[in-house]
Amino acid sequence: MANIAIDGPAGAGKSTIAKMVAKELGFVYVDTGAMYRAIALSCIRSGIDVKDEENVVKECENAKVTIKYINGSQKIFLDDEDVTSTIRNEEVGNGASAVSVYGRVRSRLVKMQQELAANTDVVMDGRDIGTVVLPNATLKVFLTASVEERAKRRVNEMAEKGVTVDLEQTKAEIAMRDERDTTRKESPLKQADDAILLDSTSMTIDEVKNSIINLYKKAIA
Ligand code: DC
Repeated sequence: MANIAIDGPAGAGKSTIAKMVAKELGFVYVDTGAMYRAIALSCIRSGIDVKDEENVVKECENAKVTIKYINGSQKIFLDDEDVTSTIRNEEVGNGASAVSVYGRVRSRLVKMQQELAANTDVVMDGRDIGTVVLPNATLKVFLTASVEERAKRRVNEMAEKGVTVDLEQTKAEIAMRDERDTTRKESPLKQADDAILLDSTSMTIDEVKNSIINLYKKAIA
């Protein structure tokens, strides 16, 4: 199977780009962050403190998380409820960052991710795809952008939804998430040795997408 691994910090544009690349190549897009978010949502709903490792792990073992592809897009289910949109907020995002530090949570989700990639051509995005989940990926990209730029994109994205958020606070939150994702003991966010670094700070979405398509074509040539 061919597969493309896209890792990078929060807000670098991974999911937007990964979806576009998948569509152009006819691959399936797998959003692994959604799986950590579903576990975080399950903990929040059960009133479990994300710092309570034993109970988070128990919740993760008991939660039924399933991925389905409906009209080509990924839907994530928690105990048979479609939570695809429910998981897209800062509270769940920060919770996902917190539960993702536990090795026992990671190993369960990594297994699911590897199973998905075993039978299908995928573009998978996350933090440890090139380093842990798909170490033999056809192409590995490490997509990043400055904290300032990522915060601006986030503020604009929220403004489009009619929500005003503070730039400085957003910057601080992104920096905090980067710190936790890069310094955790289990599979920290880091560029794989054989990944190609793409800094999207002053690139358009199309430029980033086209660079990845070109890199992929070179990788299989
Ligand atoms: O990409 P995202 O914002 O949906 O990810 C939410 C959190 O989940 C992120 O802060 C860290 C964690 N995560 C991870 O540890 N490994 C992955 N492969 C994907 C996400």
